[in-house]
This record gives sequence, structure tokens and C-alpha cells, in this order.
Amino acid sequence: MTVGILTSGGDAPGMNTAVRAAFRALKMREPDREILFFRDGFRGLARRLDSASDRNVDRRAIRDIIHRGGTFLGTGRVPELRLPEGPVADLEERLAAREAFLRVAVANLYQMQVDHLVVIGGDGSFRGAKLIAESFRSAFPRRPFRVIGVPASIDNDIFGSQYSIGFDSALNNVVDAIRKIRDTVESHKRAIILEVMGNTSGWLALQSAIAGGAAIVAIPEVEASYDHDLILQRLAAGIRRDYRYFIIVVAEGVHKRAGADWSIRLGARIEADPRIREALGGAMEVRLNSIGHLARGGSPSALDNTLAGLLGAAAADVIQTGSVGGEPVIEGDAVVGIHGPFPVVLSLEEVVQGSPRLVTVQSPLYQLSEKLMLQAEQPF
Ligand code: F6P
Repeated sequence: MTVGILTSGGDAPGMNTAVRAAFRALKMREPDREILFFRDGFRGLARRLDSASDRNVDRRAIRDIIHRGGTFLGTGRVPELRLPEGPVADLEERLAAREAFLRVAVANLYQMQVDHLVVIGGDGSFRGAKLIAESFRSAFPRRPFRVIGVPASIDNDIFGSQYSIGFDSALNNVVDAIRKIRDTVESHKRAIILEVMGNTSGWLALQSAIAGGAAIVAIPEVEASYDHDLILQRLAAGIRRDYRYFIIVVAEGVHKRAGADWSIRLGARIEADPRIREALGGAMEVRLNSIGHLARGGSPSALDNTLAGLLGAAAADVIQTGSVGGEPVIEGDAVVGIHGPFPVVLSLEEVVQGSPRLVTVQSPLYQLSEKLMLQAEQPF
């Protein structure tokens, strides 16, 4: 039987290392185990296999990739696998498209004799993988088949894993951008509103704002953090304490939740604010920036490569021994994760149910942000 490996969803630095680690760990134990790479994420499962997969790959396929960002296997999102939330007008068509996709994908997996599919990606990919696994088992009930998920996403919002591959590299990219932006913002005595990716979660914005020394962070999970009135109060308190420039980090999820013009409206209010105008003798200029996909690029950090090594090898352990490092055996579809220095294994079902893992007001990092960033009653 064959182990299939693919990367899926938004690329994340360290994905290549995870592929390499899974490959090497599998082959270390079973040199003859056949390994197959699917190209372009789940899309590669449902295409002609000669163009969308690399069969029986040998170690040359994973040479010179450990330092490279992105994913050499390619990735993608498959809209057929994702139904929009809420009522959908064309539900029947969408379900039919999903069935058509799944039919081809499971037939290909069957034909290629894949009994384990390693999916390196985020929570959306794990949801897709669950559908594929269920479809496979209903189509071919006597053929063994399992999915092993490896968390890789700059959003760091996967339930059960303290960190996901790519988060640390993205964090460093964003902090680097904040440091660069600080030079120009400070020189001009401006306020900058900087949008940071993260989908529906605020982890990347929150941690980069803390590490980068931002004055304000706005995340979608905490309504008060993106309330314009409260932010203005905090900025006015800063002005009273001689702040003359501001770095405001906003998670992209705030724009999804509070309107795409959230930053524009906040910028206009900062420029018009009478407290700031009076203290400065005129308006404080505001500039809007978005780090966007730059957060996802570049070489993986050393931490991400270490994590990717641990989790890729843990996926191989689950496939070959049933578990990792003394963790209870999970029979069905599984996801490996990290808890402190230890790889752990969870069921795919619980990871899908619990994701996305969101920031709460009680999260130690959120609590820290309240201690380190501007408050409306800034006491010093
Ligand atoms: O999930 C990773 C992520 O970078 C999110 O932070 C962001 O919302 C999304 O992917 C962007 O997706 P795309 O690359 O498809 O534009």
C-alpha cells in the first residue's frame, strides 16, 4: 500500500520540511514503502493522475527543499469542498459539484492503492480531508484508508496544536515589517493602521503587535478591541502621555466582521479627533498599510523547521506504529500536533470540531496585550 502526501490551503513556510520529514521518517523504518506526492493540494487528487502526482518518489524528490518557503508540491483551495455558511441559493448545484469532485478523488486514491493520506494544511484542509475519507470509506468499505493531518497555517488557529507550521515565520515577517514601518511612522509622527492576515482569528495580529511593540491591536474575537470610540480614547490617552506616533495593528478578521472600510473610518476619526488636534496643533496624519501575502513568504524560521520536522516525523510514527511517543492510539483519521516540546495525536473529528481555535479575553497573550499596550486610563 502507498502513503500519499499533499500540501493544501494557504502555503505556509515549513510545509516543504514537513513533507521531507514525513518522507524520511517513513523510509527510515520501511525503505520499500511506496510514497506518492499529489500536486496542487486536493486539486491534484481529482485530476488525471499522470499529470497531478509523482509516483514512487525517491529521496531525490526531497533534496534542497528544507530552506525554501512556499510548497514545492503546489497547493490550492477547492471551492467544491466548502459550502458557504448560511442559506445558499444554489445548494443543489454545489452539492452535485462536491459529489463529482469526491467521486473522482476517491477513485484515484483507490486506484493508486493509497491507504494513508498525509494532509499538510490548515483547518479548511482538514474539513476537506474528512469529507474525502468519509467518501472513500463509503465507496470502498473493505479497503483500509486513513487521513493523517499535519497542522500548517500562518493563522495558528488549529485546535489541539499549540503551534502550526508557518506561524513563527509569518510572525517574524510581520514583526520585521512593523519595525520597518516604525522608522517611517516615527519620522513623520503619523499613525499607521497595519492590516495583518489571520482569517477569522487574531493570533498573528496579536502576537506580532506584542512582539513589535504596537500601541493598539484590534482582533475579531474581542469586540472592544475594534470599537472606534475605545481606540480613540486610548489614542487620546497616549497623546496626553506624549506619544507622537502610533502603530495600530488590525487583524484582517476585523475587516470581515466590522466592515472592509473599518480602517478608513478609523483613520478619518483619528485625523478629525479634537483631542489629538488640540494637543498637536493640527491633525495627526494617518496611513493605511496591509502586509498581505508578504507575511507568508520567505524561508521558514528555525523554529518552524524544527516543528515541521517533529510533526512530519510524528505523522510517519502514527502511520507505522499507531501513535507518537506513548500517546493513546487513535484508530481512525488523526491529526498530529505539538504540546510544549511533545508531539501529540488527536482525532481528526475533534480537531475539525474545535477549529478554528480563537483568541479569548482570558488568553494569556490577550491579557499581556492589555498590560503592554495603550489603555484609555494610561497611568504612566
Ligand atoms: O489561512 C492562511 C491565510 O493566509 C489567511 O490568513 C488568509 O485569510 C488567507 O489565507 C488568504 O488566502 P489566499 O491566499 O487564498 O488569498
